[in-house]
Amino acid sequence: MSRFYVTTPIYYVNDVPHLGTAYTTIAADALRRYHLLRGDDTRMLTGTDEHGLKLEREAQARGITPAAFVKEMSDRFEAAWPKLEIGNDDFIRTTQQRHERLVQELWTHIQSKGDIYLGAYEGLYCVGCEDFKTEKDLLPGGFCPLHPTMKAELMKEPTYFFKLAKYQDQLLAHYEANPDFIQPESRRNEVVSFVKSGLKDLSVSRASFTWGIPVPGDPKHVMFVWFDALTNYWSAVQSPEALKKYWSRDSVVHLVGKDIVRQHAVYWPAMLLSAGYDLPKTIYAHGFLTFGGQKMSKSLRNAVDPLGIAHAFGEICGGDDAGADVLRYQLLRAIAFGQDGDFDLAAMIERYNADLGKNLGNLLARTLGLCAKMTGGKVPASATYQKLDQELLVEAKRAALRAREEWDALSPHRALETTWALSTAANVYVDRAAPWAEAKKGDQARVDAILATLLEVLRVLSLMIWPVLPKKSDEMRAQLGLPPIGRGDRWPEGTEPSTAGRALAPAPPLFPTLDADGTRALLERLTPKLAEEPAVAPAVTPAASAPAGEQGAPISYDHFSTVDLRVGLVLSCERVPKKDRLLRLAVDLGEAAPRTIVAGLALTFKPEDLVGKRVVVVANLAPRDFGKGLVSHGMVLATGPSESLTLATVAGEVPAGARLK
Ligand code: MSP
Repeated sequence: MSRFYVTTPIYYVNDVPHLGTAYTTIAADALRRYHLLRGDDTRMLTGTDEHGLKLEREAQARGITPAAFVKEMSDRFEAAWPKLEIGNDDFIRTTQQRHERLVQELWTHIQSKGDIYLGAYEGLYCVGCEDFKTEKDLLPGGFCPLHPTMKAELMKEPTYFFKLAKYQDQLLAHYEANPDFIQPESRRNEVVSFVKSGLKDLSVSRASFTWGIPVPGDPKHVMFVWFDALTNYWSAVQSPEALKKYWSRDSVVHLVGKDIVRQHAVYWPAMLLSAGYDLPKTIYAHGFLTFGGQKMSKSLRNAVDPLGIAHAFGEICGGDDAGADVLRYQLLRAIAFGQDGDFDLAAMIERYNADLGKNLGNLLARTLGLCAKMTGGKVPASATYQKLDQELLVEAKRAALRAREEWDALSPHRALETTWALSTAANVYVDRAAPWAEAKKGDQARVDAILATLLEVLRVLSLMIWPVLPKKSDEMRAQLGLPPIGRGDRWPEGTEPSTAGRALAPAPPLFPTLDADGTRALLERLTPKLAEEPAVAPAVTPAASAPAGEQGAPISYDHFSTVDLRVGLVLSCERVPKKDRLLRLAVDLGEAAPRTIVAGLALTFKPEDLVGKRVVVVANLAPRDFGKGLVSHGMVLATGPSESLTLATVAGEVPAGARLK
């Protein structure tokens, strides 16, 4: 029996579970279920990351103790996952004693190897990433590209260092000898070139705040949050039951987002090498989920609530768990694992209707309908298969083998594609075999063979969908007269002679399809409402809508002074997908966080032309909602036709946020 130990990142508790974190956790659970069906000794871990400056500050801002704050937030994660049919075997919190003790042990162990020493650190730190930055990692103005609302802070304090540089060659040798260690390949290349460019020792303690695990023997210091957090994967398998059996280079698979590959593929293996423990088998980095083409911001994340989506679909197809199945399917099928992908509600409904309703759901309904009429609602007593039937049975076997390879290669989207190709083939087969025509001819043996073939393919499909749609698999099996998937069930190796005479139990459709009205209503219900105010702002830039020389009615000084014109510094800029004219800018207006401004500048400027430019911004314009979560909070002034605009700007190094009067 193989062992499979899959982990998700442990999530920072400054946020609630959202679609991005649900994505990783659902993927891990699908892999867990797949490996259970393979008969592997399987374990899945998720949890919460509860230390660090970011959380200490967030708790302070709320006026509660960090311990109370992290508990409340962690509970939300723990409560959310079962609602998405996620069955993690363990949930670790970094404030648990079992974890703190093990991290301190690991520290002491690594220190005893001579790999931790006291020094002083001076450099930039992004509290959002809880990680160190160099100037070239940052946007103009010192903002972090991953957290554009946060300016990296200068950190200057005594600190303990971990001898990361010492492991540079060993790491490179490991990447070389184990091509699957970091996946997909693009991430691997990124890590290899980062390590080749030269590693520096890593600062692993902080003395300027207290919300962390104390450094053994020097409690003025708390551990660097990543030293603490990465160790969760190890500390969670030290319990007597787990008996370290899951920790081996053949069993550990860390699923992470592409934003945290470096920590997992460089820091963590170096720590393990120092300690003399096995390295994981694979670190697999998936891409980022965008919503309507936009990276999920905090406000958007709250709006795109996975539980809300599951609940809404559950109302259509049989309860919250069933709705969770639909969400799981959409996330794992529509987005190629490893690549960025856009989550689109309209596309989700379309896929629900097509793949789930009209394809798989319909296959089950029509097969059981035919059996009710033609076999007395039972699995036919015996069957003599003809070529057409055998072809489909062979196809089922091939699909099961192919999907198995695809699951093994951590490609759930491909495994699902293969699974649904089988369902499509079975639907085509029903039409070609036409059991109704055979029944008319009175050829009951032929009818029996056709329906037995279909029932067998449905049984195979019920197993193949289980990793992603566990609830619907069980419902499907109930209709087929089969028990829910249990410990003894295995991924199909091929087809089996069916248990003749088994009673079938047809029930309402698995996935009732949505018509145009239903689709519209669901979309309206689920589309996040972001802007508080109605979208009243006029068209965004360019402002020069009045022809040159033409003047409107005079306005008073007081009237003019209500317009908040400010100097903005463009921090980042990108195209808006599917909108030729629009650019999305992050603009520093001297406020706590940069503003998102959507401007019709794309026919004149490339995004990179604008980064670092000073622009004049109408800062108190009502927000304008462009749909799909894209909201503009201000207007950039410019003049000229759309294809050759000139930006209004100010001479000299005027600070961002300066008011124009
Ligand atoms: N606490 C650290 C991880 C420590 S692991 C030892 C952390 N936490 S996090 O909450 O900020 O995010 C962790 C992970 O959430 C990301 O790497 C990714 O797996 C997932 N995602 C967060 N937002 C996401 C998207 N928009 N899309 C896809 N995944 C995203 O970093």
